[in-house]
Amino acid sequence: MIDRRHFLTIIGWGGIVAFTGLSVYGSIRFLFPTVLYEPPTTFRLNRLESYPIGFTEAFLENAARLFINQDKALKIFLVRNERGLYALTALCRYEGCALDPEYDIKMLKCSCCGSLYDFEGNIHRGPAEQALWRLKIDQDPISGEIIVDATARQDLAPKKIGIGYFVDKSAREVKPFFLSALRSA
Ligand code: FES
Repeated sequence: MIDRRHFLTIIGWGGIVAFTGLSVYGSIRFLFPTVLYEPPTTFRLNRLESYPIGFTEAFLENAARLFINQDKALKIFLVRNERGLYALTALCRYEGCALDPEYDIKMLKCSCCGSLYDFEGNIHRGPAEQALWRLKIDQDPISGEIIVDATARQDLAPKKIGIGYFVDKSAREVKPFFLSALRSA
């Protein structure tokens, strides 16, 4: 049977050891915090002058997860016209399949059920009925690099015209989803 003094000594030392252990553990957690890796949502692309009038394919690493439940790169098109530049997502609005460019007819075709879009994002053939998203776009005033923000999207309701669905161009070409050529000149 241990006497009372011996018992209190054990408790005391136990407490000291426990306190020291917790302090060390706390210090280590402080020095090496658990960092959650969040894939980027804004992307720096090339400088404006590297995008000629027309459409240029680009991929935003891991950004497809912001639109569909898939951890893969998001295919976009940087579309430049006389008025400026915009970033069009190449993701079908029907069920989220990737769109492939048909340069000869200047269209984007869905590899799944065949929806056909133009490079404005309008639908020329279904089953899709919603226009393609455009992403927030800007330009670094110093480096001139194009910056695309995959968290901000333009989602305008198209009007049905014949078998297609179209969005008015002027409604589309607005900040922050359109980089005006005047501003970037
Ligand atoms: S997913 Fe594009 S038409 Fe079906």
